Amino acid sequence: MQVTIVGGGMIVHDQILPSFYQLRRLGLVDQIAVCAQHGRTLQALAGSKIIREAFPGQNFRAYPDSTRDPNQPHPDLYRDAIAAMPARNVVMIALPDHLHFDAILAALHADQHVLVVKPLVLKAAEAAMIEQEALQRGLFVGIEYHKRFDDRSLMARRKYRNGDFGEFRLGTAHLMEKWYYRHSNFQNWCTTENSDAFTYIGCHYVDLVHFITGLTPASVGVYGIRDKYPNGRDGYLWTDARVIWSNDACLNVQNSLSFPDAAPGTNAQGLTLYCASARQGGLLRHSDQYRGVEYVSAGSSAVYAEPSPDYFQYVDVGGGLTPVGYGYRSIEYLYRCCLKVESASDRQQAIREIDRGAIVATPANSRYNERVIEAARKSILGNGQLVPV
Ligand SMILES: NC(=O)c1ccc[n+]([C@@H]2O[C@H](COP(=O)([O-])OP(=O)(O)OC[C@H]3O[C@@H](n4cnc5c(N)ncnc54)[C@H](O)[C@@H]3O)[C@@H](O)[C@H]2O)c1
Repeated sequence: MQVTIVGGGMIVHDQILPSFYQLRRLGLVDQIAVCAQHGRTLQALAGSKIIREAFPGQNFRAYPDSTRDPNQPHPDLYRDAIAAMPARNVVMIALPDHLHFDAILAALHADQHVLVVKPLVLKAAEAAMIEQEALQRGLFVGIEYHKRFDDRSLMARRKYRNGDFGEFRLGTAHLMEKWYYRHSNFQNWCTTENSDAFTYIGCHYVDLVHFITGLTPASVGVYGIRDKYPNGRDGYLWTDARVIWSNDACLNVQNSLSFPDAAPGTNAQGLTLYCASARQGGLLRHSDQYRGVEYVSAGSSAVYAEPSPDYFQYVDVGGGLTPVGYGYRSIEYLYRCCLKVESASDRQQAIREIDRGAIVATPANSRYNERVIEAARKSILGNGQLVPV
């Protein structure tokens, strides 16, 4: 199928575009287009050294194209890019969180399957509308929570559901992004009125605890600290969330844009779940940042680094570079869901089977995520009180 990617920022560069290039290399994807708000974004993407090295000769159709002023904004151009596609292909949405809903509806109304970076949308009612609209048209909508495709998550899920840990009681999770994120395009959208550190990135660990345990969140309280971006705008750049689950278990989630730029690794992240059976305590602990790899470069500025071999790396096995890791596997799995639904004789049944399998998040099987986000936004904009999910 053809794929149109809407958005051209960090996640498109780091994971999405190279994954679709790889799928095209494998003969699974046809044309690829990318639509961003500014031409300059696409110039940078097309010129990316690592993507060019990995995929010599591959390129994408650009919206806006190179004849336009690269600095002129085109906030509605994605509608034209989607309209230019034949029906029943794939739109991958990688816009800032608060713009997902309109773009998803535009794609569904144009009869396109939709893949979207997390979070799907910020309101449960919007997720319900998306679910209905897609099902009646026999279109697949998948949400990209790539941590689900980390083998350690799948191992934990199987063992937890086998009863090996007992029942989750108390847990902590954290994901601290690097300080330099404050200087990125985030300062233009991840601001107090649209999002916060928990909504942007904490949702991964809420989703993961459900994915592993099958429990659903019952209430959430988020304490946020306002801080200034370099452009003067306000963001909740530090958040501390308490999520109470359907069995009264409690997960504490801390998020921020604060991890020192000089610290090793691209962020700090991990999950600990304390569990119990009738006779004994159980423990699950993931260090999602330190994966056992340490590098020190021998250049003029020696740098200690702890790269993750697991999320997204390029390896040289000949013919350019090949993307590996759960970031790539997640995109491949989601794209194959689109192919499966499109080729099914009963598309609605195929969609419901994927919903029930619950390996990928869909609007029908992960509504708890939008409910948590909706309650979290109420809580953080209030005084951090617990809000029912
Ligand atoms: N770990 C993860 O799963 C993960 C990581 C990063 C980002 N994300 C998600 O991906 C999304 C994008 O994040 P990012 O890091 O790429 O942000 P970013 O700020 O780097 O990029 C956003 C892009 O959207 C483009 N854009 C904005 N409005 C547009 C419009 N109207 N039409 C076309 N393009 C438009 C911008 O030009 C920019 O290229 C967010 O929803 C974020 O939560 C997920």
